[in-house]
Amino acid sequence: MVAILPAKEIIANAMEGDSPDKVKFKASDLRGILEYVPLYRNQIFVIAIDGAIIACENFTNIVTDIAVLRSLGINVAVVCGISAQLEELGNSRGVALSDLRGEGPVDDATLALAREASATVVQRVCDAFAAKDIRCASSNIIRATEVGIISGVNQLNAGRIERIDFSTLGNLLTLGIVPVVPPLAPDRNGKFYRINSDSLASDMAVGLRASKLVYLTLTRSVRAGGASRAEAANVAEIKELLETKPSEFDSRVLSKVRCAVRALETACTQRAHILDGRDFACLLNEFFDKVGCGTMIYADEYQKIRKATIQDATAIYNMSKVSAKEQNLVYRSLEEIAANIDAYYVYEMDGGIIAFVSLINHGNGDAELASLHVQPFYQGHGVGRRMAEFVKKRAKEEGYKRLFTLTTKSAPFFSNSCGFVETSPDMLPKARLEKYEKSHRNSKVFIIEL
Ligand SMILES: CC(C)(COP(=O)(O)OP(=O)(O)OC[C@H]1O[C@@H](n2cnc3c(N)ncnc32)[C@H](O)[C@@H]1OP(=O)(O)O)[C@@H](O)C(=O)NCCC(=O)NCCS
Repeated sequence: MVAILPAKEIIANAMEGDSPDKVKFKASDLRGILEYVPLYRNQIFVIAIDGAIIACENFTNIVTDIAVLRSLGINVAVVCGISAQLEELGNSRGVALSDLRGEGPVDDATLALAREASATVVQRVCDAFAAKDIRCASSNIIRATEVGIISGVNQLNAGRIERIDFSTLGNLLTLGIVPVVPPLAPDRNGKFYRINSDSLASDMAVGLRASKLVYLTLTRSVRAGGASRAEAANVAEIKELLETKPSEFDSRVLSKVRCAVRALETACTQRAHILDGRDFACLLNEFFDKVGCGTMIYADEYQKIRKATIQDATAIYNMSKVSAKEQNLVYRSLEEIAANIDAYYVYEMDGGIIAFVSLINHGNGDAELASLHVQPFYQGHGVGRRMAEFVKKRAKEEGYKRLFTLTTKSAPFFSNSCGFVETSPDMLPKARLEKYEKSHRNSKVFIIEL
């Protein structure tokens, strides 16, 4: 939905006869696709596929879409749902199931069938990947624990995630292997629990710092009455609606919407997509077509950035002290930071600060972007660029004409990723130039006209 490639056209052009599986591309189409390789290269997409979609005819086309994503350098992890297969097994064996989706109490008979359903589903997925020459692996990377007793009701074999082995998942992805993860996992004693796959996918997206979380299900709209066209909604709007009018959502996707919101509230996952997995080329259409084909919920990049308050001064000081030691930032005392706290903005996540920046007024329409710092764990995931974009926007709104910044180690970041142009220190306002000369840091100076 965000991007630009007219995949629908390409696919429509390329389809031959009645068989959508036999898609042929023209050489010029391939060139169009390759143009978008840098956009998604090395990103991680977590794709959760409902059991009903894994069972449907279109599943082989989904696997073809995943093969295209892989060929574009996108790393894919798959989470499997099993409800449809579980329901079918319950019906055929005459077993009354205590729970279908891993959301309520799971009795022993239901757990036994869930394990069978899971084995069938994983086999089907691995077979389909093998047919398209995609390497995949189903592995025991999740450790579960019991949900326990909720409101007096024992949830029996219903489990929640205790730990995900992200290092193994990361290794698989680095090797070009698609991890296939079913919604069942053992606890530390080897006892198995049924987990909700929507929640599992959300946790995996967060832990893998996936840029996209995708749910392939039986509807393309999250609205109770459905929607005729593709939709895009801001996570803040969706969150408010979930709190005030949950009945506006299609009950079948309520859990997916909640899990999507949870993932989007982190710094790394920027988009969640809920798609009808029965739509031909749904993944390619959603990612490479301007209009898209399902519901996209996007993180508001600015909502996590807020003005700093005096309570943030110590956290900013502690982080900047470390960065100053590494000669990235200029050392500033706690008193100095506290005195200028109005100039600072912080990027907040889960109640903690993961990045900060300041916007300093130098008069005559000149401002400085200073002290930009992203905590090392969160570096390389677009947080720095979002902070710089935020400051540029803010400086423009406040009527500044020029924004400059000084850096010793991050020159390529400002020039290649933030649109700044290197300039001579002589371009600095007089008082700032004096300070620059006194510091002997010999920083590079960058400027952007607003
Ligand atoms: C510089 C810094 C703010 C960048 O933040 P970040 O969140 O890691 O950067 P992003 O993820 O937004 O990176 C955006 C792009 O810039 C590139 N980039 C980031 N830091 C870079 C650096 N130091 N040198 C070259 N390129 C860099 C990234 O590779 C990425 O490129 P891509 O879009 O092609 O993948 C961060 O690394 C940091 O806090 N460094 C220490 C403090 C510092 O040097 N501050 C700048 C002085 S004010």
